[in-house]
Amino acid sequence: MSVPPLNPGLFHLDPFHLWVMHCSEGPVPRSVVKGVRDWLHKELWPWEVQWQEDALALPAEVRQTAAAVIHAQPEDISLTPTTSSALVTLAQGYPWRAGDEVLAPLGEFPSNVYPWKALEARGVSFREVPLWEGQRAGARAWESSPPPSDGDFEARILKALGLRTRMVVLSWVRFQDGLKLNLARLGEACTERGVHLVVDGIQGAGTAIPELQHVSAFASGGHKGLLAPQGLGFLWTQPAFRSLLTPTGTWLSVEGGTEFARASTDHDRAWVEDGRRLEPGVPNLMGCAGLRESLNVLLSPGVNAIAGHVRQLQDHLLGALRTCPGWREEAYRLRDLLERDRLGSILSFHCGERSPETMQELLTQGMNRGIFASVREGYLRIAFHGWHEEGDISRIAEWLRASGTAS
Ligand SMILES: Cc1ncc(COP(=O)(O)O)c(C=O)c1O
Repeated sequence: MSVPPLNPGLFHLDPFHLWVMHCSEGPVPRSVVKGVRDWLHKELWPWEVQWQEDALALPAEVRQTAAAVIHAQPEDISLTPTTSSALVTLAQGYPWRAGDEVLAPLGEFPSNVYPWKALEARGVSFREVPLWEGQRAGARAWESSPPPSDGDFEARILKALGLRTRMVVLSWVRFQDGLKLNLARLGEACTERGVHLVVDGIQGAGTAIPELQHVSAFASGGHKGLLAPQGLGFLWTQPAFRSLLTPTGTWLSVEGGTEFARASTDHDRAWVEDGRRLEPGVPNLMGCAGLRESLNVLLSPGVNAIAGHVRQLQDHLLGALRTCPGWREEAYRLRDLLERDRLGSILSFHCGERSPETMQELLTQGMNRGIFASVREGYLRIAFHGWHEEGDISRIAEWLRASGTAS
């Protein structure tokens, strides 16, 4: 087992608390607290706040580090409060025509549904496609079968493309079943058909590098795998796609917006072409002070090192569970998915015959042992990151073994 690429000492986690739910909320590294505190201290004495350094250079640095985390270019990054707000920017800004359609896999997180449903009044429809036989969502989500290891999920999406489909919108890594979709394959096929691929990347950002070559947009809040406080994330847009969008910025989104020698009321200016075009005013600078630290923590070993480590942890846990009667089948299914590069950082164990109450009880038993996991729509989610280590695997395996064959 490799040494964790993120030193556990970077975080404020004591040995009792084993947090395997950054898929809900990532822990922030201690350095974030210092970064935000230093920023706030400046705000105590406003004469300490330097326009150039704090209001312009800080966000610029965050765009740069965010770009590095997804192997992209800084000029294609816009700072946005959340994944949701980024997707709303795209949905509201795209030049729709009545009759256009948005296609999504069944069972997306609501952040990637409502921005598109809101377009109904403009004549744009939203259609969902199941990714495998037996997949259920909504009120029937708990009746769903889990993703089969040999499923061709992309083929189902591509087969569902219609003549009116303008956009495919999907999660790179899905929040409940943990499935990772192949962005390269989807993006290439969408591009060939003149369809935009828009990605909700929050469950993958920080623990893997997305393949963006044929993607139009990639959005992520900062508070999960990116390990930042809630309230600031980013949106990456492909330049040609971005130029199609109605700018949602104002004074900092136009040429020379900060040249105070020129009258601010001189509104005869061109929109900038880079990601600032989509940023509404001064970004959340306190959030920037935090997000900068989190991103630098990730960049120190590099996201690829984190991805490799997470994969090893997953492999070891699944190996340990192959002799555990209650979870053996799921361990085999997930191992197959892992080998086919079908998983992000979440191992989502399907509940099988277990009831919601039984799953809740399982979580409580885990918490009593100091293990903090989560359940969504019938899946027990164990999410690893760069600071987890071999000893954590043994604790989780012991907990799940103790839960026996409960069904
Ligand atoms: C796939 C996915 N997208 C979006 C969100 C919400 O992100 P935000 O609050 O940044 O809009 C979540 C949160 O669980 C999620 O799992």
